[in-house]
Amino acid sequence: MDTPLPAQPAAPALPVTAPETAAPAGPHPVERACSAWLEVRFDGNRCIHARQCVTGAPATFLADVEGPWIRPAMTPLQDLIAVIRNCPSGALSYRRLDGGAPEQAPPVNLLSVRENGPYAVRARIVLDRDETTPVAPIATAIGYRATLCRCGHSRRKPFCDNSHRRIGFEATGEPISGNTAALAVRDGPLEISPQIDGPLEIRGALEIISGTGRTVERCTSATLCRCGASRNKPFCDDSHLRIGFRSTHEASP
Ligand code: SF4
Ligand code: FES
Repeated sequence: MDTPLPAQPAAPALPVTAPETAAPAGPHPVERACSAWLEVRFDGNRCIHARQCVTGAPATFLADVEGPWIRPAMTPLQDLIAVIRNCPSGALSYRRLDGGAPEQAPPVNLLSVRENGPYAVRARIVLDRDETTPVAPIATAIGYRATLCRCGHSRRKPFCDNSHRRIGFEATGEPISGNTAALAVRDGPLEISPQIDGPLEIRGALEIISGTGRTVERCTSATLCRCGASRNKPFCDDSHLRIGFRSTHEASP
């Protein structure tokens, strides 16, 4: 039987997950699960199955179960918030129901180059073209965490959908370091503009780091490869022209 944790206010009898009414940007409905003090939201369209949730808070995020799988009351509040903030894709987010402060933007904008995988971004992200929807481009704040395709094969560009595994993408997460001079400002909005059939144009203070956390570049703008073919990864070298990269969603590899 589920028992409320002792150091917390009384928990609801059974936390629930339920589809959200607003249409999500993808085939999966956004799920919500509430305790007395926190609403947890899960957008399966963004999840890359990195499993930080099911290993960081296994009493709350249940793996391999049918039906409701998020039980917010079963993990101490601050621990649960820390696990949610550790979700690299932004699939998990939360809303405080107890009057506590919402998630804050990170103090330093970071883009991590994952070995054989996507870019993992932590910043106040403004995406100015969401290729998962047919609507006209519009700058949209999408939160503080996102994983972005860099293999060129995601069917949910610009977001990662784990296609790098499907195609056996190989690209180091340890590119050589370039200009690492300190930035005067390290935070603020980070505007990401996916170019049609081309790279990610990024504007704003940014520290690019390797998969192990080494500083690769500090900059205020960058043009990053997302076709998977650059010989100067993570930067674009116009190889997308050479390979005929198409950023429209493909039906097969
Ligand atoms: S991406 Fe987020 S929601 Fe998906 S498995 Fe990882 S931590 Fe969990
Ligand atoms: S997007 Fe890959 S080289 Fe330009």
